[in-house]
Amino acid sequence: MTTPVPFPYEAQPVSAEFQKRMSAAYPVFDPVGLAPFGPTGYIMPADARPFLEQHYNAPVGPDDVWIVTLPKCGTTWTQEMVWLIKNDCDYESAKCLLSPDRYHFLEICAITATQCREEIRQGQNPVSKRLMFTPLQERPEPRFVKTHLPLHLCPPTLLDTAKVIYVARNPKDMCVSYFNHLKVFEERDPNMSIDEFANLFIAGEVSQLPFFPHVLEAWNQRHNPNMLFLFFEDLKRDLRGCIKKVADFLGKSLTGEQLDGLESHLIFSSMKKNPWVNKSVILAYSPLTAEQLAAKEASSQKTEFMRKGETGDWKKHFSKETSAKMDAWIDRELAGTEIKFVTG
Ligand code: A3P
Repeated sequence: MTTPVPFPYEAQPVSAEFQKRMSAAYPVFDPVGLAPFGPTGYIMPADARPFLEQHYNAPVGPDDVWIVTLPKCGTTWTQEMVWLIKNDCDYESAKCLLSPDRYHFLEICAITATQCREEIRQGQNPVSKRLMFTPLQERPEPRFVKTHLPLHLCPPTLLDTAKVIYVARNPKDMCVSYFNHLKVFEERDPNMSIDEFANLFIAGEVSQLPFFPHVLEAWNQRHNPNMLFLFFEDLKRDLRGCIKKVADFLGKSLTGEQLDGLESHLIFSSMKKNPWVNKSVILAYSPLTAEQLAAKEASSQKTEFMRKGETGDWKKHFSKETSAKMDAWIDRELAGTEIKFVTG
């Protein structure tokens, strides 16, 4: 047994006002509450530290691939692409869930509200149990890992050992997408407006934010040979080009026919109806067959995880004031950096 690397970060102390704001916005996390962790104040449930310590010591192998993203930036899309490239476009074997079957979702336990986590631990749902409680050590190599943790909370050996693909998305569309996501997963006050949420988003007072420190930490590693930095907007604009770039990065070459197949497999309309990637199983909290899932998809109870998949959708949601506030914030945060976001 190797000695664990000590986890160097703590939850930061929070004020009563912060707790009150968090409790009003995200009541599902009560009574434990949310807290900022580490030097950038990454927001997680206040009891996340033991999980974070474990993740810091996660095993990392040279053939492993980690998809590191902020939520709603194209994680699922990239996961499916990477898995199929690494597995020679084996669509038959891809007929099982991205997570938990093909990917390990590193911090799923840590980001789940304490009560919900305990209900799953004691409940009967095998999919959720596997998603939450399969140890990374039990997964076959090469391991496919998805995480929203910032790089400094990942294992310190990660970038020297495995391949890391980071996907960034412009913060305005990410904000709208996250607003929807937190409603779908019942993790925010359902009556909150998008403009109220945008204020919390800018302040970094949302689970798994703040935005800019996360992106810039990865951006600063973009020349590391084990890091591929992608933008959601480029996936949208030139999916085929991005597939080739990812294949190159992973040391794989695809035939023209494989590229055609993968491109049509990965377009929004096919991802949206693919039950193995569209999260309908996790949302339904029950292990359904593919046929049952397809029937549910076609029914009125549509899942909303694959919402629109567009660039510039924020225009339909933000007030003029919120949009201007966001622009000013983006300009402030990106001053002196070379990163440019396409917002539509
Ligand atoms: P929207 O809510 O804007 O539609 P993540 O997987 O990181 O949670 O990201 C989810 C976002 O990526 C959602 O954005 C989802 O619709 C979008 N997405 C997933 N697959 C996509 C695809 N093939 N093409 C375009 N967008 C996609």
